[in-house]
Amino acid sequence: MKAAELFDLTGEVALVTGASSGLGWNFSRVLAAHGAKLVLAARRVDKLEALKTEIEADGGSAICVALDVADKTQIGPAFDAAEAEFGTVTILVNNAGIAEENWALTTPEDSWRRVMDVNLDGVWFTAQAAAQRMVAADKHGSIINIASVLGFRVAPTLSSYAVSKAAVVQMTQALSIELARNNIRVNAIAPGYVLTEINREFFESNADNEIIKTIAQRRVADPSELDGTLLLLASNKASSFMTGSTLLIDGGQTFGI
Ligand SMILES: NC(=O)c1ccc[n+]([C@@H]2O[C@H](COP(=O)([O-])OP(=O)(O)OC[C@H]3O[C@@H](n4cnc5c(N)ncnc54)[C@H](OP(=O)(O)O)[C@@H]3O)[C@@H](O)[C@H]2O)c1
Repeated sequence: MKAAELFDLTGEVALVTGASSGLGWNFSRVLAAHGAKLVLAARRVDKLEALKTEIEADGGSAICVALDVADKTQIGPAFDAAEAEFGTVTILVNNAGIAEENWALTTPEDSWRRVMDVNLDGVWFTAQAAAQRMVAADKHGSIINIASVLGFRVAPTLSSYAVSKAAVVQMTQALSIELARNNIRVNAIAPGYVLTEINREFFESNADNEIIKTIAQRRVADPSELDGTLLLLASNKASSFMTGSTLLIDGGQTFGI
């Protein structure tokens, strides 16, 4: 099969959480460019509208849905809106995530809760809703969870984030073995440092920082450097025998110095 056919997502409906910036924005553009209809989900709907305009200008189709993944009552209606416009969501990119820096000794309970509500509960309940609807419609599907290198290693002041991302790696495996019988594949991407809103200020004001020295390639990534991995996992033609995998895309950070 030629590459264009292998990664053709025509007929697929993709819902991307946290589509309003950073990786989610880029993931949405890539999936739309390969033929998927896009359901753009986040809290900042004005940003989603700007993304929708870009996608449509390039000939794609998209709708915007307001979704705070930490609020379980909003998840069902987001999938209802997707189904009303495009039909069953067949690709879920579980991308919404936050980080809060605290030393473990003094992490406030509300900070811990916020990180878990989005990065753990939000990912779980969105995956569950997507899978329930795929099963009800008897559709194959691909769920792609966005983990992190900090699902495999740790860093000072980022305990809650690292714990939540390790849980996402384990969740990916746990879901994959149960959902295989329903033709739903569940995989994850564990990015290293990618320049986005979450970290731009830090990297732009500290070009020669200690983190860069821990990355074998001695640089952070551009969001576009995840495009190939995302398409691989999204396309049932390209990765039909892959499920339960977490792909580290980190410039050689995890196993480096
Ligand atoms: N950038 C990196 O270096 C890096 C590395 C490893 C992993 N990651 C992971 O990649 C994912 C995307 O991060 P990013 O770098 O693109 O960060 P970002 O630019 O800050 O984007 C985060 C996105 O998540 C959304 N979000 C936050 N809380 C939400 C909630 N409660 N409900 C719905 N959406 C919510 C935000 O949208 P709204 O504010 O509009 O809701 C935003 O679109 C995260 O899971 C992050 O942990 C990033």
